[in-house]
Amino acid sequence: MKALITAGGKGTRLRPLTHTQNKHLLPIANKPILHYSLEKVADAGIREVGIITHKNGDEVKAALGNGEQWGLAITYIPQNAPLGLAHAVKISQNFIGDEPFIFYLGDNMVVGGLEKFIEVFEREGSNCHLTLARVKDPERFGVPELKGNRIVAIEEKPLHPKSRFAVSGIYLYDKTIFEAVNNIKPSARGELEISDAHQYLIDKGYKITYSEITGWWKDTGKPEDILEANRLILEHTESNISGLVNNDSIVTGNVVLEEGARISHSTVRGPVVIGKNAVIENCFIGPFTSIGHDCIIRNSEVEFSIVLHECEILDVGVRIEGSLLGVGARVVNAEGRPRTHRFMVGDQSLIEIR
Ligand code: DAU
Repeated sequence: MKALITAGGKGTRLRPLTHTQNKHLLPIANKPILHYSLEKVADAGIREVGIITHKNGDEVKAALGNGEQWGLAITYIPQNAPLGLAHAVKISQNFIGDEPFIFYLGDNMVVGGLEKFIEVFEREGSNCHLTLARVKDPERFGVPELKGNRIVAIEEKPLHPKSRFAVSGIYLYDKTIFEAVNNIKPSARGELEISDAHQYLIDKGYKITYSEITGWWKDTGKPEDILEANRLILEHTESNISGLVNNDSIVTGNVVLEEGARISHSTVRGPVVIGKNAVIENCFIGPFTSIGHDCIIRNSEVEFSIVLHECEILDVGVRIEGSLLGVGARVVNAEGRPRTHRFMVGDQSLIEIR
């Protein structure tokens, strides 16, 4: 079995963080989103992975290399324009050949391994195995219509969803998917839709099975969504203290403190991840928080937040909560008179002040 992972598309929904980096490389619990799919694919025993990139996918290539870090052999498959997920499958036919494969949308995250899906796909002799998750807003996804335990139809982003399920971004296929992607036509939004390929398989009487999953996340562009992914992953993170904690600090719950990081005169309440060489002094760092490497946080409180690497948070009098700070951002106490707020903020940023 091979794997195909997407890292292309437009990436417009997580601005401003995606102005300067590909959304698939944003860190969740201090690891780029794409690492999670690669780890899962490697854990499932797959070795050959194709990665769909923008036509200029240098950033992704630089971040993942040839895959040997995960024991994988990565082949990059450039997509000239984001013409749809079925188009991504179509241009990968040479790479996949006749083998079954797992198609994994690189901006999706799921708790748990892939083995159980592969097991059902193989045992049932399916042509296509889908993973379904119950959601509040199915109209944003591919939505199945179910009769008993059979999928009888699939619609992409329907106005009137026929179930409360979303088709999540982890799919298993045999080679019949290529017949489908080579026969469907672009949708109204000009994309070759993966849901139309699934509908083609249903119409032709091919065997589609599914598993229901929990612990699934997909970005929607709102900060609270990416914070939710961070929460989901941190909840399953085990403690690992490689840095230094001085005696008058209190560290409770699951906390990862990477090498060279220092906590002094502070309370850190896990789950929390603190990256290499970060300095935490006289702070409260609260649950569900990821602090990137080389951050300096002094005399401040941070809870339920993601702070990317090389940020500074100094002498901030109010607890920072539910926040996302991009690389090298600084939040500091404005000294002197008059007492003012002073901003130097990038495009499409959000600041909330009380
Ligand atoms: O996440 C699950 C949903 O993913 C499914 O429920 C939908 O049926 C499916 O169409 C897809 O919907 P989205 O509209 O959310 O897909 P999005 O455009 O966000 O792209 C998903 C991933 O694929 C992301 O990693 C970007 C990448 N991509 C996307 C397109 C359209 C490509 O690499 N190339 C593309 O042409």
